[in-house]
Amino acid sequence: MQALRRRLLVTSALPYANGPIHLGHLVEYIQTDIWVRYHKLRGHECWYVCADDTHGTPIMLRAQQEGILPEQLIEHIGAEHRADFAEFDIGFDCYYSTHSPENRELAEWMYRRLKEAGYIEKRTIVQLYDPVKKMFLPDRFIRGECPRCGAKDQYGDNCEVCGATYSPTELRNPVSMVSGARPVEKETEHYFFTLSKFQEFLREWVHQGHLQPEVVHKVDEWLKAGLRDWDITRDAPYFGFEIPDAPGKFFYVWLDAPIGYIASFKRLCQERGLDFQEYFGSQASAELYHFIGKDIVYFHVLFWPAMLHGAGLRTPSAVFAHGFLTIDGAKMSKSRGTFIQARTYLNHLDPQYLRYYFAAKLGPGVDDIDLNFDDFCQRVNADLVGKVVNIASRCAGFITQRFAGRLAEALPDPDLFQRFLAAAEGIAELYESREFGKAMREIMALADLANQYIDAKKPWVLAKEPGKEPELQAVCTQGLNLYRLLIGYLKPTLPRLARDSEAFLNLYEQSWPGASTQPLLGHKIQEFKPLIRRVDPDRIAAMLAASRESLAGPPENPKTSELIDYADFARLDLRVARIVQAEVVEGSDKLLKLLLDLGDETRTVFAGIKEAYAPETLPGRLVVMVANLKPRKMRFGVSEGMVLAAGPGGKEIFLIAPDIGAQPGMPVK
Ligand code: MSP
Ligand code: ZN
Repeated sequence: MQALRRRLLVTSALPYANGPIHLGHLVEYIQTDIWVRYHKLRGHECWYVCADDTHGTPIMLRAQQEGILPEQLIEHIGAEHRADFAEFDIGFDCYYSTHSPENRELAEWMYRRLKEAGYIEKRTIVQLYDPVKKMFLPDRFIRGECPRCGAKDQYGDNCEVCGATYSPTELRNPVSMVSGARPVEKETEHYFFTLSKFQEFLREWVHQGHLQPEVVHKVDEWLKAGLRDWDITRDAPYFGFEIPDAPGKFFYVWLDAPIGYIASFKRLCQERGLDFQEYFGSQASAELYHFIGKDIVYFHVLFWPAMLHGAGLRTPSAVFAHGFLTIDGAKMSKSRGTFIQARTYLNHLDPQYLRYYFAAKLGPGVDDIDLNFDDFCQRVNADLVGKVVNIASRCAGFITQRFAGRLAEALPDPDLFQRFLAAAEGIAELYESREFGKAMREIMALADLANQYIDAKKPWVLAKEPGKEPELQAVCTQGLNLYRLLIGYLKPTLPRLARDSEAFLNLYEQSWPGASTQPLLGHKIQEFKPLIRRVDPDRIAAMLAASRESLAGPPENPKTSELIDYADFARLDLRVARIVQAEVVEGSDKLLKLLLDLGDETRTVFAGIKEAYAPETLPGRLVVMVANLKPRKMRFGVSEGMVLAAGPGGKEIFLIAPDIGAQPGMPVK
């Protein structure tokens, strides 16, 4: 019997739109996606929403550095994120952006509600200000000497040497990382969300079963220390939403980011005609779940429920925190080449391997999970290729070649089939409780049973003995029916393998196996094609090398004999140029044709940047060009100069951009 049909809304944390998705992020999106797919397969109404987190100082500054608008930057990164997620089969029902009209409206609405309820207070604070850039500085954009131990070059909020935490105004000899200037102290008026007024509410809420035990423990410590009010304001210039009644003041990115969950869902409601109130109204009957990493627990279990409650909305049913990904036992590291981007992985390896590997390692707790590539290879090859797919490949050939693709009319061992079917509820509970590692072990134990059955019946021997046709067909039919149930259990984790297997079994999309699942008998299957390849260790090595290369540090200093005179340098006429037009070049994989504005003239340049940049993202950008290069005749036309870019090439190439304020035609010195 199918339990009552539940309605669930599930989210993953919104990735920042200032960098690529990496394998650490994927722990979360894969974990959430498995859980969501499981619920959908069980017949529940389950929606999965997410978005890019697009606001804040780092994004504003990066756009400036690249000579583009933040809107252009977030669009470009958003497209990359979507493409990465799609290839990892992360099945969002809506993937949106926090820079959306829905989010602006909701953030303003929430702010007004909180203000009316007396939860917003205005206070004057003192902050460090960059007099050159004319902006207030976030802590991480200030460095200086630790006020306690004197260590040099420490961040504005804590010392990595002695562990002290302090306010950036206490830092000695502070320097702005944005301009290099010495920041000054300056007063400003900020709005605060009075978290302290929610102390009692939260003390109850965190003990009502919404959180993991480890998290409750941590939150108790915070509550004991007392909750401090939260500064939700940032001064202009800031990329974000302006506070409605406070010109020049913006919502801090962490205010509108979680509201982005609601905005994405609102968008989905419009697309699918769902009832928003059932999910977010104060009387909401649907369940709401947030998957997050352990680093952002504070925001999700204190600020967020308080904001929702304060604004008269429902609070989350549960928040599920996971640990951090380590690689070979250590934090992901750019210098070790273990800071692996999703795209680099995809260029070398099958995304299904990673889905399975993470599933095999994930549990319901907040422990870190380690990716060790020997273990990865061994486990994927042993389990997916050696155990699961092996069952199909051992049986399917005989059915196709000897029985015209037709399965037998009866199972020789119906009890074994029933035994597999009886595992359905147990495995379901493991998925439900996020015990994915245990679920994978259960499924592999069943796969072992299926292989033992085949080993005992030896179809390859039966195939050679005259008169054993019926038995051969029956044994292979049994094997394929067991395989089909295993695939049903793996479907949340490996949707692609499941889809390919369903196609080969000529099966209409199957949902979670249950009492009504009948064996496939007298049924015609398709020819078997290899469903998943063995992991090739050379591909892993190539991926690690590519990661290292894409992040390689500067080349060694040249030998003195290779140094050039200033005069050699001065011969280069380097100039700022603006890309006016960018188009693909018919017949070339590498080149884009750029039209550059140099202030008083325009030039056509063919640049080998096609793999790294989509042409529509380029117009408007400032670049540096070599303006006195002899025109060069190429197969596609004449190139009148070069644009400067960094990186090894291919997808890893980065245009050099002048800082904001530079104008086309300016000489570069
Ligand atoms: N933008 C915020 C979240 C806002 S949610 C309203 C943010 N973004 S993030 O890009 O830094 O991280 C997105 C998610 O990925 C977070 O849940 C974070 O914990 C997770 N991870 C980022 N790096 C990770 C690892 N190395 N390992 C596991 N998860 C990691 O935080
Ligand atoms: Zn210190």
